[in-house]
Amino acid sequence: MKIGMFDSGIGGLTVLHTAIKMLPQEAYFYYADTDHVPYGTKSVEEIRRYSEEAVSFLESKGCDAVVIACNTATSAAAAYLREKFTIPVIGIEPAVKPAVEHGGNKRILVIATPLTTREKKLHDLIERVDEAHQVDLLALPELVGFAEQGIFESAEVDAYLKRALADIQPDMYETLVFGCTHFNHFAKSLRKILGDTIQMIDGSEGTIRHLKHRMEAAGKQSEDCFSVEYFQSGRKVNDPATLEFYQSLLKHLEEL
Ligand code: DGL
Repeated sequence: MKIGMFDSGIGGLTVLHTAIKMLPQEAYFYYADTDHVPYGTKSVEEIRRYSEEAVSFLESKGCDAVVIACNTATSAAAAYLREKFTIPVIGIEPAVKPAVEHGGNKRILVIATPLTTREKKLHDLIERVDEAHQVDLLALPELVGFAEQGIFESAEVDAYLKRALADIQPDMYETLVFGCTHFNHFAKSLRKILGDTIQMIDGSEGTIRHLKHRMEAAGKQSEDCFSVEYFQSGRKVNDPATLEFYQSLLKHLEEL
């Protein structure tokens, strides 16, 4: 199968990493919208436009399905894209439901972009599953900028996180939900503040499970054709330094 994925930048590699583990035989087309990163501080209309360009491009590559490997684009554009395109468009959601189901008595912190924390989609999800009112939301607008530069552990990141999480009492929290695909890379830095025992989860496994079911239901077969091609806003990435950067990020996810 040919699977397309897009994100504003490197965040969706978190989803690609999970996809390669769960569906190791497919041909992947990864679209990083580097001309428009970050998405999280833009308007819904802008994100819809950029997402439509990404899906059109991936459709033109012959993809059997497209995964929105970005929580922000899912919030702003998933329903819109499903009306525009006939190929399956699979979104990612912050893993609030598994967090509530597996969590204990302590609180759950969801970190995401400003757009995701503001949008109705996440508020509706929390209202549906968070019966005990355990979930708190926090926007971390500056992490995407650090992530795009490959800076995950540094004095600046620590200082920013310390400032942004100043009102959070670590003892009150048991689970951290990554509501932005860029944020997994900061697991080590976040543990320094929230403590080693905090559980960290994201929505990528659920997303790929959903993709798998959709493909099976459509009668699509794996073809043993594993490959990954990278694109930046529609331009094929050939330069070795960028390809190496992407490889190093997939490796970094193994080490967290
Ligand atoms: N990685 C994205 C997400 O999951 C978007 C980050 C951004 O561009 O602001 O929300």
